[in-house]
Amino acid sequence: MAQAKKAVAKTSRKQTARTTVRAAVKTYQNYIGGKWVASESGELFENINPADTGDTIGRFPLSTSDDINAAVNAAQEAFDRWRRTPAPRRAEVLFRLGEILIGYKDRFAADMTREMGKVLKEAGGDVQEAIDCTYYTAGEGRRLHGFTTPAEMPDKFAMCTRQPVGLCGLITPWNFPMAIPSWKLIPALICGNTVVIKPAEDTPLSTYNLVKACEEAGIPPGVVNLVTGHGDTVGAAMTNHPALRLISFTGSTETGRIVASACAERNAICSLEMGGKNAIIVMDDADIDLAIEGAVWGAFGTSGQRCTASSRLVVHKKVYKQFVTKLVAHAKSLRVGNGADPRTDMGPVINADAVDKIMGYIQVGRNEDGATLACGGKRLTRGDYANGYFIEPTVFTDVAEDMRIAQEEIFGPVTTVIPANSIEDAIRIANGVRYGLSAAIYTQNVNQAFRAMNEVYTGIFYVNASTIGAEVHLPFGGTKATGNGHREAGTQVLDIFSEWKSVYVDFSGKLQRAQIDTVELAGN
Ligand code: UN1
Repeated sequence: MAQAKKAVAKTSRKQTARTTVRAAVKTYQNYIGGKWVASESGELFENINPADTGDTIGRFPLSTSDDINAAVNAAQEAFDRWRRTPAPRRAEVLFRLGEILIGYKDRFAADMTREMGKVLKEAGGDVQEAIDCTYYTAGEGRRLHGFTTPAEMPDKFAMCTRQPVGLCGLITPWNFPMAIPSWKLIPALICGNTVVIKPAEDTPLSTYNLVKACEEAGIPPGVVNLVTGHGDTVGAAMTNHPALRLISFTGSTETGRIVASACAERNAICSLEMGGKNAIIVMDDADIDLAIEGAVWGAFGTSGQRCTASSRLVVHKKVYKQFVTKLVAHAKSLRVGNGADPRTDMGPVINADAVDKIMGYIQVGRNEDGATLACGGKRLTRGDYANGYFIEPTVFTDVAEDMRIAQEEIFGPVTTVIPANSIEDAIRIANGVRYGLSAAIYTQNVNQAFRAMNEVYTGIFYVNASTIGAEVHLPFGGTKATGNGHREAGTQVLDIFSEWKSVYVDFSGKLQRAQIDTVELAGN
């Protein structure tokens, strides 16, 4: 998610595209200690529609470290009560939140398309992912399993329980502006933590909607606090705040490293979800039409702005030509436009910085790398496109595995087709990047499918399906530069938001020294 770096680190041009603010534009506030409050800075930034930069969605607080301090204080004040609230009771509130989200799904999806650009159906999927995460994770309120295990000594009991980590800072990206906040927020809450959340400045409205729904569900004041603003001020104030025991960040690998260093300085727990350069392997026995559908969906869904995007298509040389011909025809047929129009297949990219970065990579592909631009490659600027950030679905062919466009995360509607000689070659190419989030294989051969599943070093793997579309009850995350070993979603996320406590109960009534006293075997 390279682009998220900009979104977190500085004002994107998306917010500064308009200087005049229409009177009807709503002004939003931070949510601190159960109250909606302005930033102490008194300043605001604008949330602009990337499909139509003349459409200002709202003005949000340009917050400062003082606002973060106030939010952390509120989270601290609420922590003891929330932590002591039985988990099944915490779950009840979260189930209510799930119901509320269902009720608002269409409105939240429309808001999301307007602020982020993805097509309405996908925005609905994003809200649905938050709903699924909420229900699934709320169910953990009646589990949150620990374990018991035998102790070494007689009349002694050993068990392990989960305890909340404390106050959590959540820093979230713009590409899944409700799903990803929910992946962090809901597990944090079920485990008994209180949180401060900072959404990406390109998409504050979706997180506002989520937090407003939390308020409506009856989550007590101070348990969830929302502060909007820039990464280099608000985000930095969070990563450096001594009372935030945990920082959970999704964004670029570069920003993730800065977050991790700040956390290391003060011994805070740090959970990172970062970039991807995900490969679909297409073998010579694959159902090619199915593989094309998966490749197009994976490469151009969300305009390629997913960390799981299929940005490398590693195709067996025997079917390479056929694959490329069909892929290009399909990519050209995609209708680019405003995501709010149900006829649109692919919406805009997020902001002007993203346009510059993606167009820069298209230049690199053509000139520096010397790949073949098979289709796309242009920014669309005429007619309805004039006020938005639209880029054509772009396919590069004759791509060598070590080219920059095949190695670096572009985070836009650009994919690369790389020829492979064999399954071994394809697996080697799939593994030959610094990231390790998702990968896929299309084949009819079960042996090849399992082999690739076993040999490709990623956190997620698909057989005869695209690299995108992870479900919330399975762990989500990646290897190498994609993460730091943590997994979100599933029950594995509980290991981020709770800490283990090993408990020994000695009911022998005497001193028993583990590792020293010998217990005689019966009959000796
Ligand atoms: C992301 O791009 O950061 O698996 C998350 C998927 C989605 C989540 C993507 N469920 O593509």
